[in-house]
Amino acid sequence: MSNDQTEGRQTGRRAGNQARLRAFVAIALFVALLGGLLIGQPDNLYLWVKALHIIAVMSWMAALLYMPRLFIYHTDAPVGSDQSETFKVMESRLLKVIMNPAMMISWGLGLYLAWSVYGFQGGWLHAKLLFVVLLTGVHIHFSRAVRVFAGDGPRRTARYWRLMNEAPTLLMILIVIMAVVKPF
Ligand code: HEM
Repeated sequence: MSNDQTEGRQTGRRAGNQARLRAFVAIALFVALLGGLLIGQPDNLYLWVKALHIIAVMSWMAALLYMPRLFIYHTDAPVGSDQSETFKVMESRLLKVIMNPAMMISWGLGLYLAWSVYGFQGGWLHAKLLFVVLLTGVHIHFSRAVRVFAGDGPRRTARYWRLMNEAPTLLMILIVIMAVVKPF
């Protein structure tokens, strides 16, 4: 489909540029707030960083939970169909605009908290880090699948993606229990 034909649609180039601009403004505001906090060094800096960490983690999880649902529907759309091309755009935007930036910010702020407050000590923190590394593995697996779908490469079954849908859910439960309950 030509750019002219897609220009007015949500999957068109103009909507894509607007989505990128909105994401850029959101990330710029986030970074400006973080920079202001680091320069101003308020007494409750730790709580501010933790709040920003939780916001980033929520965005990361939203993307990780939505992406396999897109894959399930994409699997049913015939290669080359309009539907399939639409899913490619949705997957690519979700990956670039939300999933990747949210993961980087979650890691950056999480590592800052782990270093500044806990000096990387504590069984709960080590277990949490292990689960987050596994979650990052899921993230990488999904990013590769976006590339395979985009190139109309070999597809996995919808059943496989339904199963993979459970991985981020399970890891999220374990991570939140480690972070909040700190059982050991
Ligand atoms: C990306 C690597 C991550 C690192 C290094 C990290 C590290 C940390 C650290 C050190 C804290 C402070 C804990 C405290 O002071 O009580 C924290 C808080 C928190 N993290 Fe993470 N985290 C990461 C990712 C995640 C993920 C993926 C989730 C959820 C799925 C998550 C959920 C939370 C929650 C809910 C809190 C608040 C805990 C509380 O205040 O009781 N984190 N994180």
